[in-house]
Amino acid sequence: MLDIRFATARNVSGAVAVVVPAADSSDDPAATRLAAVRASLARLKLGPADLDDITAFLLDVEHSGSAGTLHKLPRAGHRPDLLLFVGVGAGDEAGWRAAGAKLARAAGDEPTLTVLLPDDDVTPAAVRGLGEGLWLASYRFRLGAGEPPSLRRVTLVAARPAELEAGLAAAKVVAESTRLARDLTNMPSDEKTPAWFAKRVEKAAAGVAGLTVTVRDPKALAEQGFNAILAVGGGSTRGPRLVELSWRPRGARRHVVLVGKGITFDTGGICVKPLSGMKLMRKDMGGAAAVIGATLAAAALRLPVRITALAPLAENALGADSFRPGDVIRHYGGITSEIHNTDAEGRLVLGDAMAYAVRRLRPDTIIDLATLTGAQGVALGKRTAALYSHNDTLAKELAAAADTAGESVWRMPLHDDYTDALDSDVADIVNSTDVGAGSVMAALYLREFTGPLRDQWAHIDMSSSAWSDSADADLTKGATGWGVRTLLRWLETTA
Ligand code: BES
Ligand code: MN
Ligand code: ZN
Repeated sequence: MLDIRFATARNVSGAVAVVVPAADSSDDPAATRLAAVRASLARLKLGPADLDDITAFLLDVEHSGSAGTLHKLPRAGHRPDLLLFVGVGAGDEAGWRAAGAKLARAAGDEPTLTVLLPDDDVTPAAVRGLGEGLWLASYRFRLGAGEPPSLRRVTLVAARPAELEAGLAAAKVVAESTRLARDLTNMPSDEKTPAWFAKRVEKAAAGVAGLTVTVRDPKALAEQGFNAILAVGGGSTRGPRLVELSWRPRGARRHVVLVGKGITFDTGGICVKPLSGMKLMRKDMGGAAAVIGATLAAAALRLPVRITALAPLAENALGADSFRPGDVIRHYGGITSEIHNTDAEGRLVLGDAMAYAVRRLRPDTIIDLATLTGAQGVALGKRTAALYSHNDTLAKELAAAADTAGESVWRMPLHDDYTDALDSDVADIVNSTDVGAGSVMAALYLREFTGPLRDQWAHIDMSSSAWSDSADADLTKGATGWGVRTLLRWLETTA
């Protein structure tokens, strides 16, 4: 991972980034911006001729200072030989995050970059945003092949770094846990079996004191009645697992369970998907990756809240032992599902895990994340996940957490009068309906497993935002690690 550290202004060389604030309502915005730039540049002890050149350049490009805008001034033969002027907008965390992401991409072939932080106005939150942007945008998934990014080190020049260290440390935790979630999600499914995923969690948890992991294999799942996880995983030679990762700090007053859908590949099963719908289905464990990442991050930050992450892992394959349309599955806890569509498999494995959480773990709050329906992306597009909850406070908290974290959710309805469509002739509920509102119906199905926690539950359908088709600000092409940031922020602010 990119090396980011604080330093004082001695011996600045290579590329140097200077921060440009967006002007507020001052009379002469250009002058305000120039004053801010000059204050930062004072650290470099440039001569008056250099300063005049730079001023002329900034006036010429009409730098707006809006978040993430960037203008480069190459200065061959001078020191520094490249200046990058990057906008931080209003100077809030989001503005700094956008600036960091832009710098990580714009540094191009430079191996090192120095960022001159203005003396005033820089808060730990600003540094957290900057660090997140730099680290998240410079992420690369590599399977041995591929060029590593040339940017290796970023030096942050600050007058009082001690006050800002906490912001950078938090950003690093976010970046590391998001990297894990992205790595897990990007991994091709020939390697990414349920057992492989479980091993990766064990390995990651071993690095953080106070975390424990329990992995249930098919034998344990059968003994304990996790029949939906077994049914969905039955068509694959690579058996299912249930991973339980637990963070139990002393003195915690609340217990949160996070459940993440962990389908390591979704062919659709006997109701097989066409290639167009199947080719990216290695991402169908993005929810599991996010709840694991968020829990690791919360533990690394020693948050004073008990957290249990549950990842029901299965490969929805097409084989002689696959479950079939018309089958009836008895979930953990006794609810029965009639299978109408083997491609609606995520809600089945989540049902087992949620029933277990409600009956055995008895948390205060339960939140599940899942790449659950194609309909979610139809409704909300690539960057916004669907949020469902009966609890207005929880819904508002989660939306606010997503917002500050740089992710996005939109609340969707749990219409009671749609639930009739879940009725089955032979079981308690059917796993798929043909009444439209695909994402809503999946949420209503999951609600059946919340028992007494119905009003302490939130469901996030993050199907579309788990993956990005292009590099975009802090997202890189491929897995986004969506949800790590939202969950962690929510845990931080409510712990
Ligand atoms: N994993 C898919 C949902 C999905 C689709 C996630 C596209 C990300 C991108 C899920 O298991 C699925 O197949 N859902 C079906 C449900 C239907 C059969 C009721 C769907 O959305 O078509
Ligand atoms: Mn499916
Ligand atoms: Zn799926």
